[in-house]
Amino acid sequence: MARIIGSIATSHTPTIGFAHDFKTKDDPVWGPIFGAYGPIRDWVEARQPDVFFVIYNDHITSFFFDHYSAFALGIGERYDVADEGGGARDLPPLTGHAKLSQHIGGSLMADEFDMSFFQNRALDHGCFSPMSMFAPRNETDWSVPVIPLQVGVLQFPIPSALRCWKLGQALRRAIESYPEDLKVVIVATGGLSHQVHGERAGFNNVGWDMEFLDLIEKDPEKLTRMTHAEYATLGGMEGSEVIMWLVMRGAMSKQVKKLHQTHYLPSMTSIATAIYEDLGDAPAQDAVEAQRKAITHQMAGAETLEGTYPYTHERSVKAYRLNRFLHDLVLPAHREAFLANEEAEYEKAGLTPEERALLRKRDWRGLIHYGAIFFVLEKLGAVIGVSNLHIYAAMRGQSLEDFQKTRNAPGALYSVAGKGGDKPAWNAKS
Ligand code: FE2
Repeated sequence: MARIIGSIATSHTPTIGFAHDFKTKDDPVWGPIFGAYGPIRDWVEARQPDVFFVIYNDHITSFFFDHYSAFALGIGERYDVADEGGGARDLPPLTGHAKLSQHIGGSLMADEFDMSFFQNRALDHGCFSPMSMFAPRNETDWSVPVIPLQVGVLQFPIPSALRCWKLGQALRRAIESYPEDLKVVIVATGGLSHQVHGERAGFNNVGWDMEFLDLIEKDPEKLTRMTHAEYATLGGMEGSEVIMWLVMRGAMSKQVKKLHQTHYLPSMTSIATAIYEDLGDAPAQDAVEAQRKAITHQMAGAETLEGTYPYTHERSVKAYRLNRFLHDLVLPAHREAFLANEEAEYEKAGLTPEERALLRKRDWRGLIHYGAIFFVLEKLGAVIGVSNLHIYAAMRGQSLEDFQKTRNAPGALYSVAGKGGDKPAWNAKS
């Protein structure tokens, strides 16, 4: 089974990435940052983890206020470097561990954490600043796949410190119920003390930083009782993002061994790093079995329903490109381009030959089998003048007339075509 072998805790300030990209180890100002990550690189090299589970927050780069969520788990296969204003840093994209992340997502939901899930979103300095300093890589690839957890700490209300801690405990159950033998390292990022807005910008509190580092190791539950206002008072408003470290600490056993710790304050944010090894025992087998049962409980039996294809993370990741293509038909420019030359649009979207063939044939049943969700098919229907009833009949393998006979109002036809709904030929007849 998968095990948490230890954790890396680290600030994620952009200065770390800046030092990495533009400065040297010998620079008197920036050198200590490089020094902080040397022991972490050595520990990673010695322990050879299979996965990094990275807890970070996005800085209004890839997540905006049109939809802001508390806990967003990455379930995809690849994470690009975000452009934060001056072009993306010259780093390869991270590879996701989609299978483990999807298992963790199912386990957290079973434990009543109503997560949000993302894919195909670039990660900003919250993840890449520290990763660039210690995660092994070559020119084109990173050696260790990641699972990112984005915590929404910027638009209040945000999760409490206690909720972060409890999520961490659920994360441990999730990881330890994954059947494959994997060594997982939790990477907690954020903090320490800083404030970057308003007249209080530049606030730091080194005394609190040192106390926090002591408490996170020895008495983390004391930290779970603090309010956001207390964190802001002691460590600055943006410094309250250190509650993310409690997800990591909640996922560790009570007993940890601290192998490394640094603290350095070159500019706005106290840069801290630490390594904790997990000294806990393996979980009891019956607890592992109970968790696995809880994960599958809600959908147990659904697999026996004929002609039914629940839209799971696995399907969502596999068919993301196709669903995105069809979803974008809600954009007038895309649907006009599609109607003018759909082959050119397939090419632009990079659809596979299989995906193109399914669309060309308007193979509604095949599209569902492949992984399309019905609610993008009705958009395609609206664009090309096919009613929902035509699609339902085709999925069932029936003629429209035969399917209509099964309805209470056999002549009813409709679509989601909105203002264009009175135009299609099928509607003129109805
Ligand atoms: Fe942050």
